[in-house]
Amino acid sequence: MSDPAIAEDALVLGIETSCDETAVAVVRGGREILSNVIASQVDLHAPFGGVVPELAARAHVERMPLTIERALRDAGIGMRDLDAVAATRGPGLIGALLVGYATGKAMASSLRVPFAGVHHIEGHVFASLLADDPAAPPFVALVVSGGHTSLFHVKELGSYEVLGQTLDDAAGEAFDKIARFLGLGFPGGPAIDKLAKRGDPKAIDFPRAMKGNNLDFSFSGLKTAVVRHVRRAEEAGQKPARSDVAASFQEAIVDVQVDKTMRAAADLGVSTIVLGGGVAANTRLRERMAEETSQQGRRLHVPETALCVDNGAMIAAAGYFRLRRGEVTPLDAPASASLRLTA
Ligand code: KG4
Ligand code: ZN
Repeated sequence: MSDPAIAEDALVLGIETSCDETAVAVVRGGREILSNVIASQVDLHAPFGGVVPELAARAHVERMPLTIERALRDAGIGMRDLDAVAATRGPGLIGALLVGYATGKAMASSLRVPFAGVHHIEGHVFASLLADDPAAPPFVALVVSGGHTSLFHVKELGSYEVLGQTLDDAAGEAFDKIARFLGLGFPGGPAIDKLAKRGDPKAIDFPRAMKGNNLDFSFSGLKTAVVRHVRRAEEAGQKPARSDVAASFQEAIVDVQVDKTMRAAADLGVSTIVLGGGVAANTRLRERMAEETSQQGRRLHVPETALCVDNGAMIAAAGYFRLRRGEVTPLDAPASASLRLTA
């Protein structure tokens, strides 16, 4: 391993623009969040029912300077106090990614500090280290977001063995599509979460695709089942309660995630489980995971909601880790919409 590129208590600026949040944070020593600013673009994309890539990229350009300024001000530091800069390198929407990535490189270059290009999913895993009681490997990590559904065996930080992933839609994508179908608007996950609290999760027995099978996921069948159920009911002149549909759909998706994660932990004999990604903000998933892990005597680490969704702090934390290992990203390394997470 190479010499560390930064000191143990280094101040790292983390920039995240892989999708629709312009997010910048300052983290000290890879653990202590000094600021975490998230400029959401939800209102901008809501009328279109989903993220419009060109609009997202343009909004990142417009919001980036002020978001950086606020992150520095909230942290009580000046730009020259930074010891390193980290930015999301991929995967994500290329136009959006480029804004934060190029900004990060330009800042690192002009400040003459090291730069780390961070894999977005590694960032989501590192969010669980930004707590008073940080997760320690070995652990099984379930990262569920708008773009990803992956189960990893993390034997040590920086090493990710993929145990399973989605064969079609990501979990968050399924939430968003069903929310749109039910007329709940965008983003769908939080809307379904809220509506489901008033519904009966046992009202409709939706399919648990691939449950008990291997550790891969598939959500397209569930989506079709929800649409078919509602349409059939409407054709028969009934109006199914949206809250019951939302609760039953959510229960099916959560059930499979809990089942696979717990099975992976049991098979590997791993006692710690980590959740990350926007869908980890889901209250039912958090509740069910907490119940199961405590019943089985395992430890659960779920970041607070603001650290589950896309944020700059997780990127700063993952960047800090890479730079401490001497892994500086060259300034000519490109961003990539389909960047792979290598061990
Ligand atoms: O990690 P994230 O902020 O962005 C990506 O990397 O994709 O995740 C966004 C996804 C969206 O699909 C959103 O609907 C979902 O996370 N999400 C939720 C909840 N909050 C956000 N899904 C279910 N329940 C929630 N409470
Ligand atoms: Zn994400």
